[in-house]
Amino acid sequence: MIEVKNLKKEFQKTIKDPGLSGAIKSLVHKKTETVKAVDGLTMHVDEGEILGFIGPNGAGKSTAIKMLTGILTPTSGTLEINGQIPYKNRKEYVKEIGVVFGQRTQLWWDLPLVETYSVLKEIYCIEEKKFRERMEFLNEVLDLQEFIKSPVRTLSLGQRMRADIAASMLHSPKVLFLDEPTIGLDVVVKDNIRKAISKINKNDKTTIILTTHDLNDIETLCERIVMIDKGKMVYDGSLYHMKETYGKMREVIIALNNPDEIKNIKPDKKFGLNADDYEIEKKANSVSMKFNSAKVEIPDMLNYILASVNVKDITVKDADIEEIIKKIYKSEVNPGEAV
Ligand SMILES: Nc1ncnc2c1ncn2[C@@H]1O[C@H](COP(=O)(O)OP(=O)(O)OP(=O)(O)O)[C@@H](O)[C@H]1O
Ligand SMILES: [Mg+2]
Repeated sequence: MIEVKNLKKEFQKTIKDPGLSGAIKSLVHKKTETVKAVDGLTMHVDEGEILGFIGPNGAGKSTAIKMLTGILTPTSGTLEINGQIPYKNRKEYVKEIGVVFGQRTQLWWDLPLVETYSVLKEIYCIEEKKFRERMEFLNEVLDLQEFIKSPVRTLSLGQRMRADIAASMLHSPKVLFLDEPTIGLDVVVKDNIRKAISKINKNDKTTIILTTHDLNDIETLCERIVMIDKGKMVYDGSLYHMKETYGKMREVIIALNNPDEIKNIKPDKKFGLNADDYEIEKKANSVSMKFNSAKVEIPDMLNYILASVNVKDITVKDADIEEIIKKIYKSEVNPGEAV
């Protein structure tokens, strides 16, 4: 369905020396530097799949999405979506895709939403009956009714995002690109948007590429993730596999009867514990200890804690996908080798 091979995008960036004189100098003698925003990306996405496309700020996600949607032409490499080359035949291609950039709306600011949809109906040549059915489905999934007559500029961010997703899905595209569709939304609206994305995927078998910094989006919606960093792919696989491979970190949270006892928690050879084996965070009445369960056995850790302090309550937390990804972003673990 989506086939990307060795895709690259380079930008020329003007660099200037610091200060005002640097700014003036750069006007006369332009010094440029090449930014490799996407640097050899190869991936395949199947029909009907929801792919989580993640990576730290500046990794090249939006640039890749812009190439996949035909907004940008690649510097080199090939890409084919449903048999089409995005930047070649944009007019035809846009009928097959939907795009939402969470950072900015693609709706007409002053038009009431309902009129925006009528304009899109004409642009995409959707016949009346199909349009009505589609509006009914999207209204049910995204709950547009209460604000459909309001001008876009009066909508709240959550309403606007729902309106944007509906606009991108009006023509029943085969592929949907969502670049940060939950950015800045409250937890309830995020949850509604996730449910809507899932329903759209199931109902239409839409292939979805989803970019987000909210890993709850990924956990709820994506079986597979592609992670990029500095334009290069660093992980392609299932979320489950990522947890299995890197998810050896555990966290024990200990509530103490006597907070003074926190000082009793210190490296103890008797229990096979070294200072490097755990990360400790002390709070008012509790302590959090993060450790690698491949190095320290969970029963050993619990025995040590029970022998050292007077425990009021204890919780052991499972591998947290957020922690794993944080470590990969900070290069503390190297994707490709287990920790
Ligand atoms: N039009 C442009 N001109 C010059 N450099 C650009 C341009 N667009 C993107 N870049 C650079 O390319 C790199 C990748 O940017 P991109 O917006 O694709 O990252 P991203 O992964 O979407 O990040 P974020 O999570 O912050 O949205 C960055 O270093 C950025 O500064
Ligand atoms: Mg981006």
